[in-house]
Amino acid sequence: MQTNVLIIGASGGIATALTEQLLNDESIAHLVTVSRSAVPSQAAKHRHVIINSQNEDEIKAFVQEQKGQYKFHRVICCTGILHAQAEPVLKPEKRLEDMRPEQFIEYFKVNTVVPALWIKHAIHLVDKAHSSIVVFSARVGSISENALGGWYGYRSSKAALNMIVKTAAVEYARRSANTVLICYHPGTVDTDLSKPFQANVKPEKLFTPAFTASQLLKHTANLSPEASPYYLDWDGKTINW
Ligand SMILES: NC(=O)c1ccc[n+]([C@@H]2O[C@H](COP(=O)([O-])OP(=O)(O)OC[C@H]3O[C@@H](n4cnc5c(N)ncnc54)[C@H](OP(=O)(O)O)[C@@H]3O)[C@@H](O)[C@H]2O)c1
Repeated sequence: MQTNVLIIGASGGIATALTEQLLNDESIAHLVTVSRSAVPSQAAKHRHVIINSQNEDEIKAFVQEQKGQYKFHRVICCTGILHAQAEPVLKPEKRLEDMRPEQFIEYFKVNTVVPALWIKHAIHLVDKAHSSIVVFSARVGSISENALGGWYGYRSSKAALNMIVKTAAVEYARRSANTVLICYHPGTVDTDLSKPFQANVKPEKLFTPAFTASQLLKHTANLSPEASPYYLDWDGKTINW
């Protein structure tokens, strides 16, 4: 079967690897990538659209433009932020005193609101016969598995994203019953996002974006809609919410 895929946040490390693998996959008929910046279009089946997903009007315009065209079998939202040097500066909190309102707001804008907006509008984009929506969560977003503490803003923005997905899954079950929703933890991946935090990661636990992309494509294919939503790690194992 020929399928169509939409990747959001396409300039990132994991998204770039996903794009490369999907372009080499002959079963993909259309690959659309979305990013705030340009991504070279590498094949006839690839279309890139510049969208700042923090502006909902730009998402709406994309959905409008897509109307009457093909539907997507996979929507993968790769947006996320952990640290930033430019304003607003982001540095994961180590202690209570590090919590800052402006940092919380930025984490929630990028890690929670952007994927939530895409989940909102994807109801008009997905193939209702068979499709999946993957958002990148993180294991640190698990409320029940939080033993280490710290990273208040990043953790809570991912936990909130998990709740958005849990809640949306109830509505998708009514409105698009064959669409599977997945919160995905890729492991620690060698991208800009994890660079400042790689020192204590064992080499065998620091994954390449290529490995991460192939694990995701493998583990998120053919999941049963009845058990949606899923919270999965890089190895296909369930994480407790
Ligand atoms: N790398 C890891 O070890 C790791 C571990 C656990 C979870 N994750 C999650 O996996 C996902 C992908 O991460 P990655 O490692 O590929 O990170 P990355 O290379 O830093 O890419 C992150 C993407 O997020 C988008 N983004 C960043 N800041 C944004 C902003 N202010 N407004 C809107 N979009 C923004 C960008 O999309 P544009 O293309 O639009 O610029 C960028 O492509 C993230 O959600 C991350 O939290 C990663």
